[in-house]
Amino acid sequence: MEKIFNTLIDSFIEDKVGIADLFLNENLSGHLKNNLTRLYQGNQLLSAGTGNETIVVPDKLFRSDRIYWLDRSHNDPHENAFFDLMDCFVSYLNSTCYTGITGYEFHYTLYEKGSFYKKHLDQFRTNTSRQYSMIMYLNADWQLADGGELCVHHTNGLQNIPPMDGKSVFFKSSELEHEVLVTNKPRMSITGWLKVD
Ligand code: OGA
Ligand code: NI
Repeated sequence: MEKIFNTLIDSFIEDKVGIADLFLNENLSGHLKNNLTRLYQGNQLLSAGTGNETIVVPDKLFRSDRIYWLDRSHNDPHENAFFDLMDCFVSYLNSTCYTGITGYEFHYTLYEKGSFYKKHLDQFRTNTSRQYSMIMYLNADWQLADGGELCVHHTNGLQNIPPMDGKSVFFKSSELEHEVLVTNKPRMSITGWLKVD
């Protein structure tokens, strides 16, 4: 576990975007993907919005993903296994990097074919509690032709990251502008933020 955490943290320190290919093991990512598929089929996903925390305006021209918040109160074993993993990661991060993270929030995300999320920062204008963004992809057999890359806007150029299964991406929420390019098939992930409340 620590090895994967270090891979994510070391690559983050090196160039502002941490990437670890096997952050979620195949078993956990498969179960989470099944959960998300079931939520989608049961019409449980909400259109994601933009704005601050109190005024969230669904804006289909800016982002067209659909979401569902994870919560321990769902008593879902796989969601809880995911939270256990995040608890381990946060305490490792806090003890090795003095990050002082005190909370987090995560949602399932589904981009239907043709969906995207235009260039943005992850911190709200009126609330700076989000410190680090983390995305975990749930897409087995993703091909480059499927599109849907996370495109990070660095000061010296663009970095395109395909949303391959099990991969985690980690970056500072207030700093790096990024976008999700149009996906050519359903694109699934868990997206969240480590927070200082
Ligand atoms: C977001 C986001 C990136 C991705 O939800 O804020 O930028 O790769 N997601 O899904
Ligand atoms: Ni974002």
